[in-house]
Amino acid sequence: MDVGEIVAELGRYLGPDAEELSLPPAAFTSPELWQAEQERVFGRSWVLVAHADELAETGAYVALSVAGEPVVVVRGEDGALRGMSPVCRHRLMPVVEEGSGRTDVFTCPYHLWRYGLDGRLVGATHMKRNPAFDPSACRLPPFAVEEWQGFVFVNLDVNAEPLGPHLRRIGGDLANYRLPELTQVAGWTEEWHCNWKIAVENAHENYHVMGFHPETLQPTTPGGAETTVRSDSPWADSMRVRYATPLEPMVLDLTEEERAHLYGFFVFPSGSLAASGDMVIWLSLIPSALDRTTVRGGVLMPSAMIEGQDREAVRKEAEAYAAVINGEDRRGLEAVQRGAVSRFAERGHLSPKEPGVLLFYRSLAHALLREDDDGPGRPE
Ligand code: FES
Ligand SMILES: [Fe+2]
Repeated sequence: MDVGEIVAELGRYLGPDAEELSLPPAAFTSPELWQAEQERVFGRSWVLVAHADELAETGAYVALSVAGEPVVVVRGEDGALRGMSPVCRHRLMPVVEEGSGRTDVFTCPYHLWRYGLDGRLVGATHMKRNPAFDPSACRLPPFAVEEWQGFVFVNLDVNAEPLGPHLRRIGGDLANYRLPELTQVAGWTEEWHCNWKIAVENAHENYHVMGFHPETLQPTTPGGAETTVRSDSPWADSMRVRYATPLEPMVLDLTEEERAHLYGFFVFPSGSLAASGDMVIWLSLIPSALDRTTVRGGVLMPSAMIEGQDREAVRKEAEAYAAVINGEDRRGLEAVQRGAVSRFAERGHLSPKEPGVLLFYRSLAHALLREDDDGPGRPE
């Protein structure tokens, strides 16, 4: 199946008579589709990369690959968050390794050119005698950054339309969870050996809980639980899953409906939030290569929940819990990746228990087929 055929099949999810089928397996393995996604999805979409608590201090940064593109997001001396390309303007070495940390200046490890937190070159040794070189014009290329209720999104398209308006309805849904007041108590970065869409479609359904999480999640949100979804825009959709037994939050003042449901919110392509009683978990599934997905996430709680407690113990407990759930998904999804490359892989029929998967496919089709430039599989 060539990329034009894959995209044409994806386009059918947008039609009124869309069949409820899984993606063509080639969508998970095609280098040509991956190239189209790099340009048309990750080259111009808002990708959730961090929670603001990770970037609170001046010089705090997160560096990662967004679909193969090195990206760093850093808190500047003026308090602003900035996204930029860490690729050195001298001879291409990324000035910071992937990961997170804090720095006063980004020093390129190759020939030690130094860049300020705003991306401007502040020093380059042995360059004065090259009259063609203008250090004042030398800076790391900027990306767009937007913070929404504590979540930090980056867009490689510096002129991207703002994300906030697409999230208004979700913001209303989450009002009682008081997102801006939550504290990140734990966080993680993992690398999963699967195509990003295998991870994202999994996040869009609760049906797999009986298979992947029989002892951890199945007792509270069984795979067969009543699940409803809503699409707000191609960038935002949500899912509601009924708990086996309603939760009794200790701090947040939640409605009966909120106590009775797990709420999942998705910001295409990578971001998701799960609101569950006194806790919100965020997870972003960001490709670094065709068959590699970086999984960044964190656990957020109201500060009243952790007052007087040993923060280190809270962090360890939350990280250990997340590691168990993430490990269950990871093992399963890495096996799905092996299935996706099989010569006998075929599309399958979806269950009514996984309606969110179709919303994700529609967002993907929309992003690939958006009109504002020439896409794969489009007529000349
Ligand atoms: S490549 Fe960065 S200083 Fe040479
Ligand atoms: Fe899962």
